[in-house]
Amino acid sequence: MSLNHDHLTIVDHPLVQHKLTIMRDKQTPTAVFRQVLKEISQLLAYEITRGLPMTRKAIETPMQEMEAPTLAGKKLALISILRAGNGLLDGVLELIPSARVGFVGLYRDEKTLKPVQYYFKVPEGLEDRMVIVVDPMLATGNSSVAAIDLLKKAGADHIRFLCLLAAPEGVVRMKEAHPDVPIVTAALDDALNDVGYITPGLGDAGDRMYGTK
Ligand code: URA
Repeated sequence: MSLNHDHLTIVDHPLVQHKLTIMRDKQTPTAVFRQVLKEISQLLAYEITRGLPMTRKAIETPMQEMEAPTLAGKKLALISILRAGNGLLDGVLELIPSARVGFVGLYRDEKTLKPVQYYFKVPEGLEDRMVIVVDPMLATGNSSVAAIDLLKKAGADHIRFLCLLAAPEGVVRMKEAHPDVPIVTAALDDALNDVGYITPGLGDAGDRMYGTK
């Protein structure tokens, strides 16, 4: 399947691109990396929540009554793919504090190279919620596809995927497996290297976030 951009949004806003460059720079210290990730996640959240269903409710301003716009339906569900997803989650949750939160933990089986679930805890009523899955790096797409498989089994059917960087391979894989899931990212990078890292990328997002390397 070829790569086109009809289900991929690249947020090319100057603030997003400036912050992404800080994150890519290997000299950027852990604390700054985490802080900038939080800031950028809020700008990306602004984009991914565009077009959420709205309704109106009656309120009174100090001046008069009015029918004012407000979000419709059940609270959003934010689902973090462990562990790096938590870096994006923190910022998005600050912007949407009433969202419900879930976690999906997957590891790669060394023999089969397939993702294996080790943790799954998600909010109730996924079928009635907009579900935003967060993971900074859409690399091979294997863990994202597997996480979304699990969420669909749990009832989710309005899913969006938020990442910081995407590789063409991951975008194609996601589109094949989940064509109904739009992707929002800050950049579409060149390729994956032979160990599955995005190039030019920013290295291992979890390690850079938590200083584990
Ligand atoms: N996960 C990361 O943290 N970095 C990559 O480049 C790819 C996957």
